[in-house]
Amino acid sequence: MTERKHGFDTLQVHAGTGPDPATGARQVPIYQTTAYEFRDADHAAKLFNLEEVGYIYSRLTNPTVGALQNRITALEGGAGAVCCSSGHAAQIMALFPLMQPGTNIVASTRLYGGTLTQFSQTFKRFGWSATFVDFDDLDAVKAAIDDDTRAIFCETIANPGGYITDLDALSEIAKDAGIPLIVDNTTATPYLCRPIEHGATLVVHSTTKYMTGNGTVTGGCVVDSGNFDWMASDKFPSLSQPEPAYHGLCFGAALGPMAFTFHGIAIGLRDLGMTMNPQGAHYTLMGIETLSLRMQRHVENAVKVAEWLEKDDRVEAVTYAGLDSSPYKDRMARICPKGAGALFTVALKGGYDACVATVDKMELFSHVANLGDTRSLVIHPASTTHRQLSEAEQVKAGASPNVLRLSIGIEDVADIIADLDQAIQ
Ligand SMILES: Cc1ncc(COP(=O)(O)O)c(C=O)c1O
Repeated sequence: MTERKHGFDTLQVHAGTGPDPATGARQVPIYQTTAYEFRDADHAAKLFNLEEVGYIYSRLTNPTVGALQNRITALEGGAGAVCCSSGHAAQIMALFPLMQPGTNIVASTRLYGGTLTQFSQTFKRFGWSATFVDFDDLDAVKAAIDDDTRAIFCETIANPGGYITDLDALSEIAKDAGIPLIVDNTTATPYLCRPIEHGATLVVHSTTKYMTGNGTVTGGCVVDSGNFDWMASDKFPSLSQPEPAYHGLCFGAALGPMAFTFHGIAIGLRDLGMTMNPQGAHYTLMGIETLSLRMQRHVENAVKVAEWLEKDDRVEAVTYAGLDSSPYKDRMARICPKGAGALFTVALKGGYDACVATVDKMELFSHVANLGDTRSLVIHPASTTHRQLSEAEQVKAGASPNVLRLSIGIEDVADIIADLDQAIQ
């Protein structure tokens, strides 16, 4: 194709892929192979030494997974990406090159419950820690950063409440502190928000959700903007100094804007092994082809459902940032101008009991621990995804016992509303 800069809808279909060089197959083949034959001993040595880019072993690289990496890089406007086995794996892969025992991250209180638990509990096993702060309080974010802080972490549209995070302000704070801003863009997708354009250094995804879009596979991705100067301080020795885990290669000096991505493959995937499989990458590539079309419909339906719920007298509150009444409305126009996504919570006047009874009465909605499917999904976070948290933490996370989380699908909106109506009743 010519060099003309393509729009999002074109990139989601074409970026990173073309006819298969071996066969001309127009769709990206599933390269179901573990290893790749070396041309000779010199070729093998060059690949292992990162002097030549190519395929060695599918724990590290695979052409089908590589096509997906290139496509997500293009959609997010990054320098490179590494796909991995789940969104949770992507979070570890993003932090692994940055962290040492004794270092910490400053993270939003409003995150997916599993992420809160990963950061507050499992991190301790690595000697890492997380300080949780209300990210609407920018002074508190600044105050939480200390000499051992290595990153700021947030979600663009926070799960479960659908609150929008001020990425512009947070990236300024991260810049002043000389540390990366990591943004989980799972619930927004690059169609609604491209965090790198708001100053993010790294973008992580659970591709399990909207990117694949049909609830078929778990997957994750870390996209690097290529904009962070890892050599500027001694905070990130794994990138700025000779790396003993890769025969003394200094990734920052040798690979410049691709340092983080190559480190992720050469050390992250090599040693942590959280690799995406080619079959999974294929399903996600299929899903991404229709990402913008699905997101438009998700948003259109979410607005109508949230407006209907807000007027219903059985409902106490609706958190959807796309509502005119939302305190996040102005921020949405700046950060996610095409819409506030399709994930939000609804608080029922009947409290906890009404929430669990409503879930049990749903017919069209599926009661599952997932979001971002074409189907409408419902869950009661306090008793499931955010169950490990104390009630105070649940409230801070936007997962109070009296709320249901809705992930609005792309079905006929009248059917979605009718199901909610009969279930709440
Ligand atoms: C916003 C967000 N980030 C990350 C994850 C973790 O992703 P995965 O389930 O693919 O590990 C989830 C899962 O629900 C999520 O909602």
